[in-house]
Amino acid sequence: MDYFPEGFLWGAATSAHQVEGNNVNCDWWEWERKGKLKEPSAAACRHYELYREDFDLAKLLNHNAHRFSIEWSRIEPKKNEFSQDAISHYRDVISSLRERNIEPIVTLHHFTNPLWFTESGGWRNRGLIKYFLRYVDYAVCALGDKVNYWITINEPLVYAYHAYALGVWPPQKKSFLDALIVLENLKLAHIRAYRIIRKIYQDKIKGNYPFISIAQNMQGFVACNPALKNKLAVSLRNKFYNFWFLDSLIRHKTLDFVGINYYGRSLVEAQSWSPMSIVFATCQKNHHPLRKNSLGWDVYPEGLYELLLKTAKYKLPIMILENGICTEDDNLRWNYIYEHLKNLSLAMARGVKVLGYIYWSLIDNFEWDKGFSPRFGLIEVDYRTYKRNIRDSAKKFSALIKEGRLI
Ligand code: FCB
Repeated sequence: MDYFPEGFLWGAATSAHQVEGNNVNCDWWEWERKGKLKEPSAAACRHYELYREDFDLAKLLNHNAHRFSIEWSRIEPKKNEFSQDAISHYRDVISSLRERNIEPIVTLHHFTNPLWFTESGGWRNRGLIKYFLRYVDYAVCALGDKVNYWITINEPLVYAYHAYALGVWPPQKKSFLDALIVLENLKLAHIRAYRIIRKIYQDKIKGNYPFISIAQNMQGFVACNPALKNKLAVSLRNKFYNFWFLDSLIRHKTLDFVGINYYGRSLVEAQSWSPMSIVFATCQKNHHPLRKNSLGWDVYPEGLYELLLKTAKYKLPIMILENGICTEDDNLRWNYIYEHLKNLSLAMARGVKVLGYIYWSLIDNFEWDKGFSPRFGLIEVDYRTYKRNIRDSAKKFSALIKEGRLI
């Protein structure tokens, strides 16, 4: 396929805690304050003040879409206390995008929670889901007239795994059982949030039709050798990691499109037939010399093609909500974008319907427990001056968007 279709969404993503700065009422902030991280988020990119300037750059780069998250802990900093200032801020963020003809894609939950929510048990506690739903109701009523695309929850599995099983994110729990309970709660939260959003649009925001999804992290699982146990491991991981959560949301008819975050490959080598090995073991040998990002993740553009074909089984349109690379080598960034778009267009040529491609990230930012050193941005941030500097890869991406095809 030569040309991307008319109306294809092109843009980049951020999330509140990673770029806004001084996100003082959330669980991550408290955790950072307690010294759990070498590098706290602090002022991050000062995007809370500089969003108009950042959107000017996105516009200059021909983006017609932007994904970002609104921060629950700003909107409800204390239990039952909602902040009109925060809502006005996000209304202005959305209007600023619209004025620039940039379609907002709004995420309601991107890893961070109000501190009060986490302190009362967080996502481990099913009884607290109602608070998330109340926030969703409040935010969507206040912002919905300007928004067509909602993402309820970013990467449920990644969140549950890091925060409740690995214990490297707050609230730092290390229990697989807890992580599974959290996942079930997130699933329920999405299903109910979906219905709430739908109802708000039906009853109050007439004339508009929301497109609602989650952002599902997918990995290209590849067996490092053709042993039967590796093949089994690959197929189970595809089933569980990539598709299980989506399958159940589809069963509940609560997805209008499929949102995918895709970064690369995970090489599978099960050392034994033990369930732990089949489910979790990765290959530690370095016998597949692939390109890697600066965090050591394998770059694997073909994986996107394969996953898009598999995801087509849902017969729903798909949107790439994150795809990106952290690197000091900007040529590598451009190569990464180009190769992924090539695979995307190959899948589209085979009939897969893709609505848009959103790169992670618009600007360099705070990469969670890894701090500020990974550089994912199309735009470089100088953390001493907060000056933005457009990278060459961003200009090449911009030219491709203008052309509407791979050049
Ligand atoms: C994704 C997250 C996003 C960012 C990228 C690199 O898993 O959704 O916030 O950290 O990874």
